[in-house]
Amino acid sequence: MAKGEIKRTEVKNASLLDNGQLLSVEWADSHHGIFPTDWLRGHRFDQSQPDPIEGNRPHLWGHDVMSTPHFRMFEFDEVMESDDALYDWLKMLFNLGIAVLKNAPIEQCQQYSLQKRLGYDSPAPSSSGILNQAKLHMKSYHPVYTAASLQLHNDLSYYTQAKGFQLFHCKQQVTGGGGDSLLADGFKVAEDFRCQNPESFRILTRIPWEYKLAIDKNYHVARREVIRLDTDEEVCQITINDICRAAMLRIPLQDVKKAYVALKEFTNMLYHPDNLVRYKLEAGDILAFHNHRILHGRLGFSMKADTQRHLETCYSDWEIVSGRMRNLKKQRLRKSQGENQK
Ligand SMILES: [Fe+2]
Repeated sequence: MAKGEIKRTEVKNASLLDNGQLLSVEWADSHHGIFPTDWLRGHRFDQSQPDPIEGNRPHLWGHDVMSTPHFRMFEFDEVMESDDALYDWLKMLFNLGIAVLKNAPIEQCQQYSLQKRLGYDSPAPSSSGILNQAKLHMKSYHPVYTAASLQLHNDLSYYTQAKGFQLFHCKQQVTGGGGDSLLADGFKVAEDFRCQNPESFRILTRIPWEYKLAIDKNYHVARREVIRLDTDEEVCQITINDICRAAMLRIPLQDVKKAYVALKEFTNMLYHPDNLVRYKLEAGDILAFHNHRILHGRLGFSMKADTQRHLETCYSDWEIVSGRMRNLKKQRLRKSQGENQK
């Protein structure tokens, strides 16, 4: 046989066994195989079984998402104890890109408990460590640790592959005005932008902006488009981060102005009142969101001697959401099939 040629083996005989539950195959080269017929039905090329969570598509949303039937708050304990509640919470998170857990205990590292519930041992390490304690520091130069407002952004823009899943556990919130989280659905705004301003949309899908972070022993640099499209031309990732965006823009001079105009137009649309959610986290809340889709920011607040605000934050892979959902869906299907056979 020539190198690279695939040896074809034909079926010599095939017969059903065990009341049709197994198929016995004798091949022309005399080896035998026995296959469960259910398994064969599920692996018929383009007629194969669908992905258990196929059909769950991003549900795009605007400013009123939290008052729509698509959204509800979940209790931390119910999600930790009930697989049905966990599946419903993950499904909402998968479709909307945001979800909130209420009344998580404040004293302990609940992020670890939640990650374990989702099937991972711990959050993923990043430039901020495994858990980041976002508290006020009087002398900090970084806006996260001050009372200043934070512009809408995506985290880890200076990574080529930014972590997709982010969690904020609110341990202490400022009293009085300010400190609210700002959220916008980047996929929804990008789709509106594609319709209303196709030329600027095209520019933002093509120009790579540069993001940098130098911290301790690492100097991170990544170049990423503001709007990333997948092979079907669907929007699959948004990257905006004014704090980490480098002054360097490696494009021809004549394109620079058009790039900044397009970025400004898109940013204006993100901040349109129709697109912006304002939610003030309470102590015990865990806000979970898709870092590739949702832009987050913060309203500033006034700083007094006793003002305190504390968010414990961490990252994980977005695949943890779809992976655990798929596992729970299969578990549900097995359970309902078992009940039908009784
Ligand atoms: Fe952030």
